[in-house]
Amino acid sequence: MKTPRHCYCFSGIITIYFSLLIHTLASPPLHPCLQDQREALLEFRDEFPVDDLDPSPWNKSSIDCCFWKGVKCDDRSGQVISLNLSDTFLNGSLKTNSSLFRLQYLRHLILSYCDLNGEIPSSLGNLSRLTLVELSHNDLVGAIPSSVGKLNQLRYLSLAANELTGQVPASIGNLNELQVMSLSQNTLNGTIPISLANLTKLYHISLRSNNFTSRLPSNMSVFHNLEHFDVAANSFHGSFPKSLFAISWLQVVYLEDNQFTGPIEFSSPCFSFSPKLEILYLARNKFDGPIPESISKFLNLQDLDLSRNSFRGPIPRSISKLDDLRHLDFAKNKLEGEVPSCLWNFPTVMLSHNFFGSFENPSEETLIQALDLNSNSFRGPFPHWICKNKGLSFLDLSNNLFNGSIPPCLRNSIDYLTDLILHNNSFSGSLPDIFSNATELRMIDVGLNHLEGKFPKSLINCKSLKFVNMENNKIKDKFPSWLGSLPSLIVLSLRSNEFYGTFYQRNVPIGFPRLCIIDLSHNDLSGILPPSYFSNWLGCTEIFDFTKMTPTDKMMLDTGDFRIRTPMEMVNKGVEMRYEQIEKDFGVINLAGNRFYGKIPESIGIWKELRLLNLSCNAFTNDIPRSLANLTNLETLDLSNNKLSGQIPQDLGKLSFLSYMNFSHNLLSGPVPRGTQFQSQNCSSFSDNLGLYGLEDICRENRVLDTTSQHPDESPEAKEQMFNWIAAAIAYGPGVLCGLVIGHIFASTNQEWFTEKFGLRKIRVLTSAR
Ligand SMILES: *[C@@H]1O[C@H](CO)[C@@H](O)[C@H](O)[C@H]1NC(C)=O
Ligand SMILES: *[C@@H]1O[C@H](CO)[C@@H](O)[C@H](O)[C@H]1NC(C)=O
Ligand SMILES: *[C@@H]1O[C@H](CO)[C@@H](O)[C@H](O)[C@H]1NC(C)=O
Ligand SMILES: *[C@@H]1O[C@H](CO)[C@@H](O)[C@H](O)[C@H]1NC(C)=O
Ligand SMILES: *[C@@H]1O[C@H](CO)[C@@H](O)[C@H](O)[C@H]1NC(C)=O
Ligand SMILES: *[C@@H]1O[C@H](CO)[C@@H](O)[C@H](O)[C@H]1NC(C)=O
Ligand SMILES: *[C@@H]1O[C@H](CO)[C@@H](O)[C@H](O)[C@H]1NC(C)=O
Ligand SMILES: *[C@@H]1O[C@H](CO)[C@@H](O)[C@H](O)[C@H]1NC(C)=O
Ligand SMILES: *[C@@H]1O[C@H](CO)[C@@H](O)[C@H](O)[C@H]1NC(C)=O
Ligand SMILES: *[C@@H]1O[C@H](CO)[C@@H](O)[C@H](O)[C@H]1NC(C)=O
Ligand SMILES: *[C@@H]1O[C@H](CO)[C@@H](O)[C@H](O)[C@H]1NC(C)=O
Ligand SMILES: *[C@@H]1O[C@H](CO)[C@@H](O)[C@H](O)[C@H]1NC(C)=O
Repeated sequence: MKTPRHCYCFSGIITIYFSLLIHTLASPPLHPCLQDQREALLEFRDEFPVDDLDPSPWNKSSIDCCFWKGVKCDDRSGQVISLNLSDTFLNGSLKTNSSLFRLQYLRHLILSYCDLNGEIPSSLGNLSRLTLVELSHNDLVGAIPSSVGKLNQLRYLSLAANELTGQVPASIGNLNELQVMSLSQNTLNGTIPISLANLTKLYHISLRSNNFTSRLPSNMSVFHNLEHFDVAANSFHGSFPKSLFAISWLQVVYLEDNQFTGPIEFSSPCFSFSPKLEILYLARNKFDGPIPESISKFLNLQDLDLSRNSFRGPIPRSISKLDDLRHLDFAKNKLEGEVPSCLWNFPTVMLSHNFFGSFENPSEETLIQALDLNSNSFRGPFPHWICKNKGLSFLDLSNNLFNGSIPPCLRNSIDYLTDLILHNNSFSGSLPDIFSNATELRMIDVGLNHLEGKFPKSLINCKSLKFVNMENNKIKDKFPSWLGSLPSLIVLSLRSNEFYGTFYQRNVPIGFPRLCIIDLSHNDLSGILPPSYFSNWLGCTEIFDFTKMTPTDKMMLDTGDFRIRTPMEMVNKGVEMRYEQIEKDFGVINLAGNRFYGKIPESIGIWKELRLLNLSCNAFTNDIPRSLANLTNLETLDLSNNKLSGQIPQDLGKLSFLSYMNFSHNLLSGPVPRGTQFQSQNCSSFSDNLGLYGLEDICRENRVLDTTSQHPDESPEAKEQMFNWIAAAIAYGPGVLCGLVIGHIFASTNQEWFTEKFGLRKIRVLTSAR
C-alpha cells in the first residue's frame, strides 16, 4: 500500500488517529483501564503543584481512567496509549522518575502549551512504543537527551518553541520511522548530525530559528519524501543545496536568513525538478551570480523571495512561465537591465534597491496589486499602464529618475490604493486632483520633486490618511487648513514650498486630532496663533505604544521583511531603521522660515512628547512661554531670528535632554538659565540680543561669538536631529501600513511558522498569566 502523502504535520497525526479508530471499531469488548495505569496517571497529576488541574475528572473516585480527559486506552487491553494534555497549565517539570514513564504502552504523548519547564528527562527514551511526541511551546531547557534515539517507532517529534540548547544528538539517526521533525525556535547549535541522512522517511523538517552553524548534508536527495524543508534563521553556510530540488514531493523551502554563498542553480543532467515546489525563500543570504533560467521549471511556484542577496544580471524572461506566482521579491540585489512585462501580472512585485533602468510596457491590463520599484535607475515618464489597473493597493516609485507629469488617469487606480510613494524623482506639473475616491489612502509622499500648482483638494475625502509629505516642491497655494478635519493624520510635511496665507483662521475649527509631526518650514505662511492653539493637537500628548503593535506589524519590523521607508533615510543615509531604533516617542513642530507673528502660544506646553521645536526666522514677539519648561523630552529648541523679548524662563535650565538650543537674534535680556545643557551650548546660540548676561562660562575660551550665524535650522546638529525625528515618525507611519499589505501576503503563505512564532505563543503567554 502506498504511504499517504501529508501536507502538514498535523494531518499526519490525524491519519494515525484514523487508523487507531478503525482498529478500535473492529474490536467490540471494551476493557476498562488497568489499575496500575490509573495509579500512574493519578500520581503523574500529583507531580504538578496546580490545585485545579484542568483535565478533570482525574480523581480517585473516578474508576475508568480511559474516559478521563486527554486519555485514550487500547479498548482490548485497557492500556493507556495516548495522553494529550495540550494547553493544560502544568507549571512544573517532568521528573526523571515521573510516573508518566510507567505508562509503558504510550504511543502518543502531547504536552504542548503546558507551561512545562526544566529539562527533558532521559527516561523519555524508556517509552519505547511512542510514535508521536509533541512537547512544543513550553519552557524546556537543556539538551535534547540522546535517549530520544531509543524511540525507534517515532514518526512525529516536535520540540519547537522551547529553550533547548546544545547539539542535536547523533542518536537521532536511529529514528528510522521519523516523518516529522520540528526543532524550530530553540537555541540549538553546532552541526546537524550526519546520521540525520538515515531518516529517509522525513517529509517535514523544521530547524528554523536556532543557532546551527554547519553545512547542510551534501546529498539532500536522500530525503526523497521531503515536502517541507525549513532551516531559516540560523547560520548555515556553504553552497546552494542543489540536490534538494531533485526531490519530487518538495513543496516548501525556507533557507532565508543564513550565510549561504555562491550561485544558485537547479538544473543538472542527473537531477529532475521538484514539480510541486510552491514556496522558495532564499532571502538574506550571500548568494550571488545570475537568477538562473531554470527557475521557471517550477511551474507551481507561488511565492519566490530572493531579496537581500547579491544576485546580478537581468531577470530571466522565462519567468513568464510561472503562472501561479503571487509574490515575487527580488529587492536589494544587484539586478539590472529591463524588467520584463510578464512581472506586471504577478500580484506583488518587489524590485527595490537594484540597478534596473527600464521596464517593458505591458500590452494589456495588468493584475499587479503591490509594486515597489524604489531606489533603482528607472527614467522617463510615469508608467501610464498602471492607470489601467483597478486593483492597485501599493505603489512605490521613489528614488528614481522618473520625469514628466503625474497623469490624471491615475484616478482609475485609486480606489484601493493605500500607499502612493513618488518621493525623490523629477515629476513636474501639478499634482492632479484625483483623490475623491481614494478612501483607503494612508500615505502620500511626493516630496522632492518639481511639482507646482495647487494642493489637491480632493484629499479631503481620504479619511484614512495618516501621512502626507509634499516637501521640497514648488506648490503654491493657500495653506490647506481643511487637512485638520482628517481624523487620522499623524505626519504632515509641506516644508519648502510656496504655501501662503494664514495657518489659523478664526471660526474654522483647528482639528488635527492626531497630528504628531508637522513641518511647514520655509513657506510664506503668516498670522498669529491663538494662545490655546496647540491644545487642539492631541497626537503627541499621548505616547504611541509600540508594545500594542499587532504581531504581524512586529514581525514585519523584526524580520525586516519590508523596508521601513523614510525619505530622509533614503536620501541621506541609505540605511534601514530597525524596530529597536524606532521604539521611541516623537513629536516635531517646525514652523521656521515663515512670517508668523504675535506671542508663541502658551498651550505649546501640552505636547509632552515634543522633541523638536523650531520657530526660528519668523516675527514672534513678547515673552518666551514658561510652559516650554513642561516639555521634558525636548531635545532641540530654536527660537532664533524673532523679536522675542523679556527673559529666558529659568525653568528651561531643568530640561535635561535639551542638547541644541538657539536664542540668537532676538530682543532677550536678563540672566541665561543655569544648568548643564545651557552651559554646553555654543556661544553663538545667544548672540545678538538686547541684554543677556551670565554668558561668561559659555563664551569663554575658544568659542567664537558668531554674530553672522548660520541659517538656524541648517546647523548640522539641528539638521541631523530633524532627520532623525522625521525618520522615526515616518518609520512608524508607512512602516506599519506597508506591514498590512505585505504582511497579509506573508502571513498567508507562511502560516505555520507565523502562528508558531507569534500567534500561539503570544496567546499562551497571556492566558498562562491568569
Ligand atoms: C471525580 O470524578 C467524578 C466522575 O466524573 C465526578 O463525578 C466527581 O465530581 C469528581 N470528584 C471530584 C472531587 O472532583
Ligand atoms: C490534543 O488535544 C487538543 C485539545 O483537546 C486538540 O486540539 C489536539 O488536536 C490534540 N492533539 C493531537 C495531536 O491529537
Ligand atoms: C508556577 O510555579 C512557580 C514556581 O514553581 C510559582 O512561583 C507560581 O506561583 C506558579 N504559578 C501558579 C499560577 O501556580
Ligand atoms: C522522584 O525522586 C524524588 C527525589 O529525587 C522523590 O522525592 C520522589 O518521591 C520521586 N518520585 C517518584 C514518583 O518516585
Ligand atoms: C529508564 O531507562 C533507564 C535506562 O536507560 C533505566 O536506568 C531507568 O530505570 C528506566 N526508568 C524507568 C522509570 O523505567
Ligand atoms: C553551543 O551552545 C552551548 C551553550 O548552550 C555552548 O556552550 C557551546 O559552546 C556552543 N557551541 C557552539 C559550537 O557554538
Ligand atoms: C545511520 O548513519 C550512520 C552514519 O551515516 C551510519 O553509520 C549508521 O549505520 C546509520 N544507521 C542506520 C540504522 O542506518
Ligand atoms: C544565537 O545566535 C544569535 C544570532 O546569531 C546570537 O545573537 C545569540 O547570541 C546566539 N545565542 C547563543 C546562545 O549562542
Ligand atoms: C544522492 O542520494 C540519492 C538517493 O539516495 C542517490 O540516488 C544519488 O545517487 C545520490 N547522489 C550522490 C551524488 O551521491
Ligand atoms: C525626461 O527626461 C528625458 C531625459 O532623461 C528628457 O529627454 C525628457 O525631455 C524629459 N521629459 C520631460 C517631460 O521633462
Ligand atoms: C468614484 O467611484 C464611483 C463609483 O464607485 C464613480 O462613479 C465615480 O466616477 C468615481 N469618481 C471619480 C472621481 O473617479
Ligand atoms: C506644567 O504642567 C503642570 C501639570 O502637568 C501644570 O500644572 C502647569 O501649569 C504647567 N506649567 C505651565 C507653565 O504651563
